[in-house]
Amino acid sequence: MKEGSKKMADSEILHVGIDLGTSRSAISASNGERFVVDSFVGWPVDMVAKKVLKRSVMIGHEAVSNRTMLDLHRPLERGLLKEGSDKDVEAVKELLRHLLRLVGVDGNGNGRIPTSNVRAVVGVPAAALRTNKQYLRNTMKGIVDSLMIVSEPFAVAYGLDALLHTMIIDIGAGTTDFCVMKGRYPTEEDQRTLTSAGDSIDTHLLKLISERYPQANITIFMVREWKEKHSFVNKAPEKVVVTAPVNGVPTEFDITNEMKAACETLLGPTVETMLDLLSRVEPEFQERVRNNIILSGGGGLIRGLPEALQDALKQVGGGKVTYMADPVFVGSDGGLALAIDAPDTDWEKLSA
Ligand SMILES: Nc1ncnc2c1ncn2[C@@H]1O[C@H](COP(=O)(O)OP(=O)(O)OP(=O)(O)O)[C@@H](O)[C@H]1O
Ligand SMILES: [Mg+2]
Repeated sequence: MKEGSKKMADSEILHVGIDLGTSRSAISASNGERFVVDSFVGWPVDMVAKKVLKRSVMIGHEAVSNRTMLDLHRPLERGLLKEGSDKDVEAVKELLRHLLRLVGVDGNGNGRIPTSNVRAVVGVPAAALRTNKQYLRNTMKGIVDSLMIVSEPFAVAYGLDALLHTMIIDIGAGTTDFCVMKGRYPTEEDQRTLTSAGDSIDTHLLKLISERYPQANITIFMVREWKEKHSFVNKAPEKVVVTAPVNGVPTEFDITNEMKAACETLLGPTVETMLDLLSRVEPEFQERVRNNIILSGGGGLIRGLPEALQDALKQVGGGKVTYMADPVFVGSDGGLALAIDAPDTDWEKLSA
């Protein structure tokens, strides 16, 4: 902003869309910058760690790789911002500041974009929107000038321009979020959140494998990696054989049945919620919504899932489920589009 000018020109405002996710968070900015980071924040545990790392805080993949030296936090879990501990609150702040720094925003000036010029749309799980809105507002104070908090699947719908007679099903790590779009801002009744999602599949899979092969030495990180490589529902596309140590000796295990059972825990609740939301759509629009169901999020990559949902739709007259090919920035791009379109009256101004 030029010195002395009272009102910011539109061109001086930086609009950003932020997708605050359990496992990864993305930002898209109106200056063309886009970044994604793992939603991890860590602080050096002691003086030695600080000396080795030469940093006071680490974020994203870097934090995960250096986790032995860090007090590591994943501040969003099961779709809710963890409010209990000060460290988790601080971690959300660090994550947001980091994302904004990546696109050129700097709280201290330094010739970069000042925070007072930033308008941010933040996408969060629908349940967090209900319970954590005030908290998120407080967290964003001093980090951006104006704020709009929206549900994740709505941001996805906006980014895809799928605003009328569509249903978005966003299967993330912490939550599976549903949103029916009726050509206006969605209301409470148009949205649902389930805690059956990527993380709950991992927990199930770890339990099933440990029960069948108690001798195998496995961690949740290994299980997640196997899932991301071999996940499926219904018919197995291949035998799933993985390697894990037994008393230090790498050993092969067939986990095909366990993979199937763990991934299928998602099916029942997802189908039930999808059908329930559909039944609440006005009758003359139901068919259009059934034929416009969009699956997004990392969990949408489970093989056979779009087909399984489509099969379930047969009991109510049939429909079509499509998967978003490149889901990484779809939420943050949607948030950015919304930020650019939103009139002044839709923004909440945060006093620093
Ligand atoms: N090929 C795959 N098959 C099954 N699951 C996968 C695959 N690839 C990624 N995932 C899972 O998708 C989840 C991450 O998805 P995404 O990045 O959409 O979540 P998020 O936005 O961080 O979480 P949330 O939306 O719940 O806050 C993780 O649980 C990850 O293990
Ligand atoms: Mg998400």
